[in-house]
Amino acid sequence: MRLQFPEGFVWGAATASYQIEGAAFEDGKGESIWDRFSHTPGKVAKGDTGDVACDHYHRYPEDVKLMRELGIKSYRLSISWPRVFPEGRGAINTKGLDFYIRLCDTLVSEGIDPAVTLYHWDLPQKLMDAGGWANRDTSRYFADYANTIYDKLAPYVKRWFTLNEPNVVAYVGCRDGRHAPGIQDPAIANQVAHHLMLGHGLAHQAFIDGNYKGQLGIVVDVWPMLPSTDLPEDRAKADEINAWNLCLFLDPIFKGRYPENVWTNKAGQSGLEPVILADDMKIIHKPADFIGLNNYSSRLVGDRADEIMATYPVTQMNWTIIPQGIYEVCQYMKRAYGNVPLFITENGAAFMDSLDGQGRVADTQRIEYLQQYIGQLHRAVEDGVNLQGYYCWSLMDNFEWAYGYEKRFGLIYIDYESLKRHPKDSYYWYQNLIRENALITK
Ligand code: FCB
Repeated sequence: MRLQFPEGFVWGAATASYQIEGAAFEDGKGESIWDRFSHTPGKVAKGDTGDVACDHYHRYPEDVKLMRELGIKSYRLSISWPRVFPEGRGAINTKGLDFYIRLCDTLVSEGIDPAVTLYHWDLPQKLMDAGGWANRDTSRYFADYANTIYDKLAPYVKRWFTLNEPNVVAYVGCRDGRHAPGIQDPAIANQVAHHLMLGHGLAHQAFIDGNYKGQLGIVVDVWPMLPSTDLPEDRAKADEINAWNLCLFLDPIFKGRYPENVWTNKAGQSGLEPVILADDMKIIHKPADFIGLNNYSSRLVGDRADEIMATYPVTQMNWTIIPQGIYEVCQYMKRAYGNVPLFITENGAAFMDSLDGQGRVADTQRIEYLQQYIGQLHRAVEDGVNLQGYYCWSLMDNFEWAYGYEKRFGLIYIDYESLKRHPKDSYYWYQNLIRENALITK
């Protein structure tokens, strides 16, 4: 079967600075909260750190060649804030900035559009020392940093994302403490969530004021709740949870308000509303040019949900494979926010890959996963969803946060001993899909 995608559909792959760059203490880069966290014993599996990672900082020319061969039209990368501003604000580290200029220049000369995420979790430690995102000033510093980056990279970049997964930043980082900065305080987490949105709004305003070409949006992680049965009460329960969980960071942007009861739901208790100043919602309320959705899995709710969930296959992350979830979430976004353009900014899977004697990685499970998810996206496009592109997570294996290097998400296998790159079977499979602009299944 051949499922053709619309002409101009953007096929891409994604990474993030701390997960691939390495060179963590080189060329004047400042410390980030992930440098601090990964060097704190017990925080990351096996004591792994991003000190070297994939050494992309030095090997980017080879990586861009691999991207060109893969055929991607766009590459989603993120900027390390402390590489450019070692203290988070003040003096620019020119060497750090130059790296991103060189990288974007190389991408463009190879016909690949850089899609830039400004914040993919590596906050300058200096700002953390002053309270991090719980401190309102951080939102302002974020906009100043964003402004510098727009200024220098605007000639290369058509598509900007302010924040990656604010939900994870606030609640995994500051309520659950499993990510940097490792805080466990639901009230702080709610305040951080609001300041992230304020930072987004101020950075969006700076983009408008600077009259930059290109478009700007935000990336949210979406784990939709699907009803386990057709019973009306199961559907109602799923709708109720999705209404606050999927909309926490999008309602303020598109509707100028937070969803009802969201702070209580997120904190697990009432009375922990963040401080929101008079004009904040006005600053945040600026419809974005598009929404970036990261989707890997879904959850079921309702009658025998756990039992049914247990019958689905899982990835190495133990994330349940539910391809129809990505279709449902696209439809949900269409219902909630009209026909706003959507990008899948991350989708993919970790499996226990291994390199055989011939240097080949036969990752059939990943191919199967991608086939199923992309098939559902084709269905979404056919059903009128305004989906404009897809970025596979990830271009290459990398530092998977608190899990370290054991979880491999890449289309390219990294041998962490030699740092040699080995395209996996899924790389060649994706290459063919891009060439055909179609999903071809037997
Ligand atoms: C997302 C992150 C990304 C990567 C994937 C697996 O939550 O945005 O950096 O770790 O999960």
